[in-house]
Amino acid sequence: MPDFVGAVDQGTTSTRFMIFDHGGNEIARHQLEHEQILPRAGWVEHNPTEIWERTRAVIQTTLNKANLVASDLAALGITNQRETSVVWNRTTGRPYYNAIVWQDTRTDRIASALERDGRGDVIRAKAGLPPATYFSAGKIQWILENVEGVREAAEAGEAIFGTTDTWLLWNLTGGPDGGLHVTDVTNASRTMLMDLEKLDWDDELLSFFGIPRRMLPAIVPSSHAEAYGRTRESGPLGGQVTLGGVLGDQQAATVGQVCFEVGEAKNTYGTGNFLLLNTGTTPVRSKNGLLTTVCYQFGAEAPVYALEGSIAVTGSAVQWLRDQLGIISGAEQSESLARQVEDNGGVFFVPAFSGLFAPYWRSDARGAIVGLSRYNNNAHIARATLESICYQSRDVVEAMRQDSGVTLDVLRVDGGVTANDLCMQIQADILGVPVSKPVVAETTALGAAYAAGLAVGFWKSTDELKQNWQEDRRWQPAWSQEQRDGGYATWKKAVTRTLDWVDVG
Ligand SMILES: Nc1ncnc2c1ncn2[C@@H]1O[C@H](COP(=O)(O)OP(=O)(O)OP(=O)(O)O)[C@@H](O)[C@H]1O
Ligand SMILES: [Mg+2]
Repeated sequence: MPDFVGAVDQGTTSTRFMIFDHGGNEIARHQLEHEQILPRAGWVEHNPTEIWERTRAVIQTTLNKANLVASDLAALGITNQRETSVVWNRTTGRPYYNAIVWQDTRTDRIASALERDGRGDVIRAKAGLPPATYFSAGKIQWILENVEGVREAAEAGEAIFGTTDTWLLWNLTGGPDGGLHVTDVTNASRTMLMDLEKLDWDDELLSFFGIPRRMLPAIVPSSHAEAYGRTRESGPLGGQVTLGGVLGDQQAATVGQVCFEVGEAKNTYGTGNFLLLNTGTTPVRSKNGLLTTVCYQFGAEAPVYALEGSIAVTGSAVQWLRDQLGIISGAEQSESLARQVEDNGGVFFVPAFSGLFAPYWRSDARGAIVGLSRYNNNAHIARATLESICYQSRDVVEAMRQDSGVTLDVLRVDGGVTANDLCMQIQADILGVPVSKPVVAETTALGAAYAAGLAVGFWKSTDELKQNWQEDRRWQPAWSQEQRDGGYATWKKAVTRTLDWVDVG
């Protein structure tokens, strides 16, 4: 068996390819950004063709860097930004429209109509999700209704849908020449069209959005040696690398963090934050604004579910300081700037740029910086931004404790923002529990590699994977309980100031 496994991580801002060895160590990586297309306020699109080209390029460059060839890879995994929706023609391979990204809020009226029409409870019960612009179904409906010819083509089986895992897999396995049209259970669970327990598309949910079943991919387990086929001669890997696994990025990070036991959780700090708690083989229904989602399904085993707290804006708020306010020139400067002050100076920043996701689910919210006085400066804004990442995470941790009864004794973290030492210290302070980061912080790609490697026997069991996890750093809470409670109460007050701001009819 070859010595390495590869993983494509098709993210919101970039696509990377990584190669890992049997110990889960990184051998090489390459990463390329793609354009964020923002045609109007609230709209976010990607060009699927650009994403496919970037994917080919990062695979090739990574292999070159590592001095490896395709046959050195025992298997290939894919992980991806979830919910982002592509509709393309199966004969030409051409997209009908740009990918509509998970952050896009153009479907806010579609989402609020669902609740008004009394469909919210059916969706929550079957899909485990609250009606929101976040999920794929409304995005597909929008394309069917607004792009000429797509509805007829979809009914004729010519126009097909996929999240970006499916788009890449279809292209990697031959595209118009026999490409496989499949997705894994974790990605399917984010469309709002899958029945969480049957793991199949649900006709009633499809009818809410007017989506023909024919345009949807087959749903298969996250790790499976036959389900995903092999790469084609024409692709960047030449022929015959086994595609062993697919996982949505946040589920992949949960696997990469080896959260295989009930009650184990991880929090990923990237563009947004996503905290997932493994709840075992029965889906737990949230009463506190969390999502119920499929965490992974390996081979013929029963699916494992998770409770998820999704936060739309965390690392992207740091990007906003850089790109829109111009008060820092790189993300890492958010730390040095925030360190110029002892505390937030009374300033709280609620970055509700796309409304608020978990646990609030308020599409009528918009961002606010509150508590300002003449005394405050850029450093307070930077500090409030880092705190907002941590307070939003606390909101989700509180909801999780109420839903599951699980009290975290340590929070496992990963993702780009965890490079920020101050932010991780603040997280420990705000939560009152230690924060722990693993040596391999690229847990998203690692999790996809694990799913693929398990499928082909490169790794024999999840126990073997657990041995690969090693702690790099740990932050201990330092605030007094009084400081913690006071700060959190003010945060909650700040959140109320953002609500009921825009009219979503
Ligand atoms: N030192 C830092 N301090 C604060 N934020 C940081 C720091 N370094 C990176 N970031 C933030 O981390 C985010 C990138 O993290 P990461 O690469 O994990 O993103 P990602 O979510 O995986 O990206 P994608 O959405 O493309 O998958 C950016 O939003 C960036 O602003
Ligand atoms: Mg990512």
